[in-house]
Amino acid sequence: MKFQAIKGTHDILPDEVGAWHRVEVAARELFARYGYRELRTPVFEQTELFARGIGAETDIVSKEMYTFEDRDGGSLTLRPEATAGIVRAVIEHNLMNTDPALRVYALGPMFRRERPQKGRYRQFHQVDVEAFGFKSPTIDAEVIELALAFLDACGVTERELVLNSVGDSSCRPAYVARLQQALRELGPALCGDCQRRVETNPLRVLDCKVPADQAAIDSLPRISDHLCAPCAEHFAEVRRQLELLGIPYRLSHRLVRGLDYYVRTTFEVTSSALGAQSSILGGGRYDGLVKALGGPDLPGIGFAVGLERLVSLVADSEPDSRCDVFLMPLAANALDPALRLQRRLRQAGLRVLLDPEERSFKSRMKQADKLGARFTAILGEDELTRGVWTLRDMARSEQRQLTEEKILDELKETTHG
Ligand code: HAM
Repeated sequence: MKFQAIKGTHDILPDEVGAWHRVEVAARELFARYGYRELRTPVFEQTELFARGIGAETDIVSKEMYTFEDRDGGSLTLRPEATAGIVRAVIEHNLMNTDPALRVYALGPMFRRERPQKGRYRQFHQVDVEAFGFKSPTIDAEVIELALAFLDACGVTERELVLNSVGDSSCRPAYVARLQQALRELGPALCGDCQRRVETNPLRVLDCKVPADQAAIDSLPRISDHLCAPCAEHFAEVRRQLELLGIPYRLSHRLVRGLDYYVRTTFEVTSSALGAQSSILGGGRYDGLVKALGGPDLPGIGFAVGLERLVSLVADSEPDSRCDVFLMPLAANALDPALRLQRRLRQAGLRVLLDPEERSFKSRMKQADKLGARFTAILGEDELTRGVWTLRDMARSEQRQLTEEKILDELKETTHG
């Protein structure tokens, strides 16, 4: 029997993990500059949290969650996204009362049972950013600017920011009623999925990708024409500030996003380099969510970046060197001094590898090359009798004979100097 990774999941192999580290380090450094701190929540939560948070009629909740019964009969779900769990943690620990600038980020795996394809997985990873307690449109612009600064830090330049406002509880219901009316009139002209959505979640029709539906969808009423005055003012100020910061964007009245908690500003960044799954990140404002999940009336806004998609856009770099020194105990009695030197060099902060198998000089040199060793240290019969090592600088093809103490001194300097 041969085991394989579950469909829609994937291994991140050692040769690939460098790019992951680079984007993770970039996230941590950048987010700290904007005052964000890390929050880690569990990968599973009560099912009800996601149903109430994301919306029972969304594709995520109705079709894509990994839900299972716990042994005590409770219903648990692997998190399909990070926001609901973060909001739960904020409420549970009263973070809004103790943190004067509640900005957090999270990093980790999410689970959605979608149809796997390039860029779409059943276990994928997100970097997620959330800011709580700010009504001002300034935070919308700041969060969007942060999202783009993160892509800059990762070297992703081929991208487009798409922006919309989906209104709030005072203007959206009337718009949705209008939209629903218009959709009912279109009726069978729409695809099967859209016909169902007319009754369950009419806004999602705007997200339909079926080519035959596009002309009809373009003729539908637009939310941008139906925003109430406060929502319109908020959106105008977000746009003004983005323009002030020199951030280009494209307005799309069809950007409704797949989660129900959004109000006012929604945004996505897409890249044509990604193919069909072109969304690198998505986010928006969710002012009613904290209250809906049992907390105070605390506004919130954030975004999440899909790391598989981001990493696929990050340029491959030279494979990293794996070791500073590769030790080659060649003489019969060379292993003991090699083990001692290996330990001392590692204690001094150097990356050291030693192959304890019996191999020829030539195959050991090949190994050192493949590992990107900066130095090799050779201990053959001749060296052993004279109490020295041959230290070879691999890039310069120069070698010298040195005692163990001298090697330690010199290499400590090259690494830390
Ligand atoms: P989302 O748009 O569902 O938003 O996901 C954000 C990003 O996660 C997407 O743009 C995409 O890059 C990645 N992603 C989503 N599903 C998959 C998948 N099956 N395979 C690979 N990557 C995927 C949210 O999750 C919201 N919680 C974002 C947010 C935070 N809004 C406010 N705060």
